[in-house]
Amino acid sequence: MSREWRARVAAAEDLQALETERVAALGKQGAITALLKTLGTMSAEQRQAEGAAIHRLREQVTEAIVARKTALEAADLDRKLATEMLDMTLPVSDPPQGSVHPVAQVMDELAEIFADLGFSVATGPEIEDDWHNFTALNIPESHPARAMHDTFYFDKCDGEGRRMLLRTHTSPVQIRTMMGQKPPIYTIAPGRTYRSDSDATHTPMFHQLEGLVIDRGIHLGHLKWTLETFLKAFFEREDIVLRMRPSYFPFTEPSAEVDVGYTLVNGRRVLGGSGGWMELLGSGMVHPRVIAACGLDPKEWQGFAFGCGIDRLAMLKYGMDDLRAFFDGDLRWLRHYGFSS
Ligand code: PHE
Repeated sequence: MSREWRARVAAAEDLQALETERVAALGKQGAITALLKTLGTMSAEQRQAEGAAIHRLREQVTEAIVARKTALEAADLDRKLATEMLDMTLPVSDPPQGSVHPVAQVMDELAEIFADLGFSVATGPEIEDDWHNFTALNIPESHPARAMHDTFYFDKCDGEGRRMLLRTHTSPVQIRTMMGQKPPIYTIAPGRTYRSDSDATHTPMFHQLEGLVIDRGIHLGHLKWTLETFLKAFFEREDIVLRMRPSYFPFTEPSAEVDVGYTLVNGRRVLGGSGGWMELLGSGMVHPRVIAACGLDPKEWQGFAFGCGIDRLAMLKYGMDDLRAFFDGDLRWLRHYGFSS
């Protein structure tokens, strides 16, 4: 009996077959288990005569199973080691790489260009109050310009009773800069701005670049030279032509809308030359009232300011046509324009 079981165990070809034999011998319904159960029904003499043999049988078969299991596991491991070999010399495939978003890249480029002209970078809060966003910029309560801005308001006011809002432009950073440091001031302020507006060229969140210069004897010529120098550097073209049109902003006087010239090449607008004009930014000489609201003497200090859509600059430079795609986070779009691997 013992030899027969040990032969069956030794013949088990894999761990699963071995388990089948174990259950057949020692499982609840197993043959040897059944033998063990008969011990209880035997007389004392019979149990003495046969008990030891049955227990030995169980021990021998158990040992045989353990030995076979060890051998099969070792063989399994050998096979795995032989077949599942890793070739450490194979080249690694490149993981996908992140990249700088076009808007962030344009902001970096702008900061670099203006740093060369001696401008520092300022920032301000995106959650503003209506004094910094409007009143100090010569847009009093009930001024029609407030309605034109499609402002997102908060329910709450700040500690001084000023209504909180999402800034509609970066111009409040002009106020914070003039109140926070002494002139001369040569600063740009890039950042997020918000208006309740959405179509192919407007998103509720967009980016502006504010420029502010406050010094003695500043005039429109300085503004025009600065804008020309900046746009030639940004678009990397010497043939950029600007056109200033009289306009109106409550916080600048005089005010000018600035257009950039383009040429039609195969039906496409290419910046440079003056075949046609594209509106690019708003600008002007800082209104004396704004300078005074910041505690400076407008007779001593003059300056210019401009405000420009950063997303629009990116669209023009990289030939992107739908502003909404900027903020969809679609990697295919970024790859298409060479911004992601
Ligand atoms: N803040 C204006 C806007 O958002 C732009 C601007 C800035 C105009 C500075 C003049 C001077 O439309």
